Amino acid sequence: MERTFIMIKPDGVQRNLTGAIILRFEQKGYKLVGMKLLQISRDLAEKHYAEHVGKPFFEGTVSYITSSPVVAMVWEGKNVVSGAREMMGATNPNSAAAGTIRGTYGLDISRNVIHGSDSTASAEREINLYFTPAELIEYSKNVDRWLSE
Ligand code: PPS
Repeated sequence: MERTFIMIKPDGVQRNLTGAIILRFEQKGYKLVGMKLLQISRDLAEKHYAEHVGKPFFEGTVSYITSSPVVAMVWEGKNVVSGAREMMGATNPNSAAAGTIRGTYGLDISRNVIHGSDSTASAEREINLYFTPAELIEYSKNVDRWLSE
């Protein structure tokens, strides 16, 4: 089953949006298989955003993501990578569709509440960056049979 990496960014945690955001993924039908609250180090942030080194927003993005704790999660489900991105909305909350997470809770690209992997390859890389295999739990839920055949 497909997995993706989702992070509630410092603004989401500070603004008490953690529960509301988790509820959306739960209610969609995705399964939480890993979760931790952590303070991201500069080193980890540079690894996470390695593909953006040298871009004008790189320093701001690293200082934002390291400014306060984040909630890192791994969610599992059918097509969860693209499905979670749909739920998040566009990177810039200003153009994110109403009803999406960023469209509902955000105003500015520099405080866009949530991160989600943009491909299955990114998901694998990001999951390995934040979690050891032992921190990811495989389990079944009785509701699974009500979510798909
Ligand atoms: S891009 O433009 O294709 O390189 O952007 P993208 O791959 O979608 O993600 C860039 C990450 O940096 C954060 N960020 C910004 N991006 C673009 N422009 C500005 N000004 C900017 N400021 C911050 C953006 O939120 C992406 O981080 P994640 O964690 O993936 O949301």
